[in-house]
Amino acid sequence: MSRIYSLLFYLMVPLWSTDSQSMTSEQMANYKRFLGHQDRLFEKLFKSYDPGINAIYTLHSVPETNGTVHPPRFEITIQLSMMKLVEVVEPEEKATFLFDYRADWYDTRLSWDPEDYGGINHIYVPRSKVWIPETTIVDCFSSEIKVFDNEYTRYAWLHSNGSIGMYIASVTSVVCQMDVYKFPMDTHTCSVNFLFMTYQLEEFTIVGKTGTLPRPVEQLGNGEWQMKSIQIAFEPVVDNLTYLTKFEATFSRNPGFYIVLVMIPAYFINVLSIVALFMDINNRSEKFTVGMTNIMSMSFILVILAEDLPKTKNLPILAIYTVTSLAIMLCSLTAVVALPKLKAYYANRSLARGEKIPKNDEVPRTFWERIKFYFKVEYVFMLVFQIANFVNFIIIFT
Ligand SMILES: *[C@@H]1O[C@H](CO)[C@@H](O)[C@H](O)[C@H]1NC(C)=O
Ligand SMILES: *[C@@H]1O[C@H](CO)[C@@H](O)[C@H](O)[C@H]1NC(C)=O
Ligand SMILES: *[C@@H]1O[C@H](CO)[C@@H](O)[C@H](O)[C@H]1NC(C)=O
Repeated sequence: MSRIYSLLFYLMVPLWSTDSQSMTSEQMANYKRFLGHQDRLFEKLFKSYDPGINAIYTLHSVPETNGTVHPPRFEITIQLSMMKLVEVVEPEEKATFLFDYRADWYDTRLSWDPEDYGGINHIYVPRSKVWIPETTIVDCFSSEIKVFDNEYTRYAWLHSNGSIGMYIASVTSVVCQMDVYKFPMDTHTCSVNFLFMTYQLEEFTIVGKTGTLPRPVEQLGNGEWQMKSIQIAFEPVVDNLTYLTKFEATFSRNPGFYIVLVMIPAYFINVLSIVALFMDINNRSEKFTVGMTNIMSMSFILVILAEDLPKTKNLPILAIYTVTSLAIMLCSLTAVVALPKLKAYYANRSLARGEKIPKNDEVPRTFWERIKFYFKVEYVFMLVFQIANFVNFIIIFT
């Protein structure tokens, strides 16, 4: 019997504990008092407040005299919260970031004395109810900026001293110049730049800050790109009247894909082609097939480059490598075609001088004579072209 009671007891415990988590009457009274104060505060703040009326002081152009003392410029603080590279489209010179930031400013019309409202120091207000300074991201594909502000996230925080702020999460695509000379070992810096386009330059300042990012910088790239640094920079505009606030991301390409799948195969194709050209030098018809195959595979690499890279003035070094490889192949081909003729010419000349020509099938006995027997001048050419090919390959990595 006592067992059943204890079982019942344990079954009841969760019920009691959930009961005790709901409010006591004292807590409930406090909460209701808070809600009452908050209602009153809302009433006070927004009774005559019109979010369409700006808080920007527009008399800065009037010279300051004894009669007029200007307040400081309107200041907005933009603190970076997240900047993750999503995608880089090199031919369009476009970089897309997950770009989140918080913006803080002061609106003195929205301040109150916490003493009068039960000590309430801050509240949350719908963004649609307050004036929000218009910030512009310059040099961007404005049609491609997506700001995630669903109805339920559209709130701002408001402090009793009039400080107001909000969090903005966006996907932002910016235009940035890309120098692909070092492709695929290239590094680029792209920035998201802030300015107010609507307001006059002397009426505001933007204070940029990089907050603590949620993840280490190395993890803010994507598979192809590694983030190196995220920095803030200021660029004076219009004679130092104000500054363009730039959040600069520097990222470099992970070259593995191109090295393993394009560059190393290209190198070995060249090595093999040169060997194939200089072996069995008297069989000339095959040589052109080898040369043609090689040129076709090199052109294929050029096609890959043309698709992936912007057509800028600076040729990427990989293109130079490929073109140089083509040149090396053409020289090899010329040498291969010319060599048998030269050999025939010299053989005729020594024959005319009456020198003895060794018979082909007779392997000599002494060491030096054997070397002379197996040695052929085309091997020297082969070596020279292989060295040229190797140097051409190594130069890319320096
Ligand atoms: C400001 O007022 C003081 C005293 O009234 C006067 O001496 C001074 O010249 C004034 N300055 C300007 C810029 O008008
Ligand atoms: C206004 O209040 C916020 C939040 O308490 C605080 O961070 C900020 O420094 C205050 N500003 C001034 C000018 O006191
Ligand atoms: C802007 O500021 C920089 C550095 O403070 C200075 O070197 C430059 O001369 C200034 N330019 C103008 C037009 O005042």
